[in-house]
Amino acid sequence: MQILLAPMEGLLDAPLRDILTRAGGVDRCVSEFIRVTERVLPERAFRRIMPELDHGGLTPAGVPVRGQLLGSDAACMADNAARLAELGSPGVDLNFGCPAKVVNRHGGGASLLQDPAHVHRVVKAVREAVPAHIVVSAKMRLGFHDDALAEDNARAIEAAGADELVVHGRTKVHGYRPPAYWDRIAHVREAVRIPVVANGEIWSVDDARRCLRESGCDAIMLGRGMVADPGLALAIRAELGWPACAGDAGRTWADWDTLQPLLHHYWRLIQGRVVPKHQAGRMKQWLNFLRRRHPQAEEAYQALRTLSDSRQVAAWLDAHIAATPRVIHEPGGVLASGGAHLIAEVGDNHACAPQAA
Ligand SMILES: Cc1cc2nc3c(=O)[nH]c(=O)nc-3n(C[C@H](O)[C@H](O)[C@H](O)COP(=O)(O)O)c2cc1C
Repeated sequence: MQILLAPMEGLLDAPLRDILTRAGGVDRCVSEFIRVTERVLPERAFRRIMPELDHGGLTPAGVPVRGQLLGSDAACMADNAARLAELGSPGVDLNFGCPAKVVNRHGGGASLLQDPAHVHRVVKAVREAVPAHIVVSAKMRLGFHDDALAEDNARAIEAAGADELVVHGRTKVHGYRPPAYWDRIAHVREAVRIPVVANGEIWSVDDARRCLRESGCDAIMLGRGMVADPGLALAIRAELGWPACAGDAGRTWADWDTLQPLLHHYWRLIQGRVVPKHQAGRMKQWLNFLRRRHPQAEEAYQALRTLSDSRQVAAWLDAHIAATPRVIHEPGGVLASGGAHLIAEVGDNHACAPQAA
């Protein structure tokens, strides 16, 4: 019964990981991919994508982040995995799912799924290179052109010593078009003994319920659904009766009331990390997801749509978005979703003290 936050290069990076893990309900995150080509990357390349390495591999809310590597050269992947572990990543995840042409042309990401023996070599080399206590996991699609090798790939990953497997229920050819084939994830799960996490197209509590039923998994990974509705993980836990995760006691979700201070916090984080000319774009990118679920985010998106100057965006946020929660934290409160519930002050009840933006 676990909820993982998906790696999403260019979208769900450290600032949004910070925000979404503050929202609550998330057990673990995976970083967006760190591309490995022919050498051990400099330390700064790991820290740029995974600044959580500066804080024991945890988000400010105290949720562990597993660094993800993408590449096809087994020896080089192993050297970089060892370095990542040395830098303090709580685990190493391997990407066998990226559909990007430029990645697949170099034999990385989903293209590796055409050759389970090669997948096995990469996972084995990484497993042997990192200390035994560091978890090695993999994230795969059902296949490249089709799903015929899904079980073979999963077995190769298990035989090579991986501890866990996330399956995105689509092939590379399916891209991101719905549906995700949760029933095929069930076949993969049955082919191996390691824990399998189901991923793809979970946008609501009802989707989560159906995905769990069809895949037979007891863990899910949320990507775009959590970006669109940061209260989703808490809502799933509450409605399915799953136990709260560490740091979630008293944490509740009150839709727009909860989101407003998080929008301000996100804005501060991207100001500290993104060059000014791209800051407005980052805000609009998140609002574009949020407006699927929140009418007020649609209004905000429409108001900011044509603005590119970060000062104008800041002024609009200050004028229209509440910077502090309307209601305050009640110790020992229960998890709930929707309605005007009590909400913890951002970052005040987590294992790890909040850090400066
Ligand atoms: C913009 C974007 C970037 C992504 N980047 C990564 C990545 O870096 N590593 C990875 O394993 N998967 C990546 N994915 C795939 C997601 O982790 C996830 O498998 C996919 O979005 C399906 O889950 P969802 O329907 O819940 O979003 C990315 C997906 C998107 C849309």
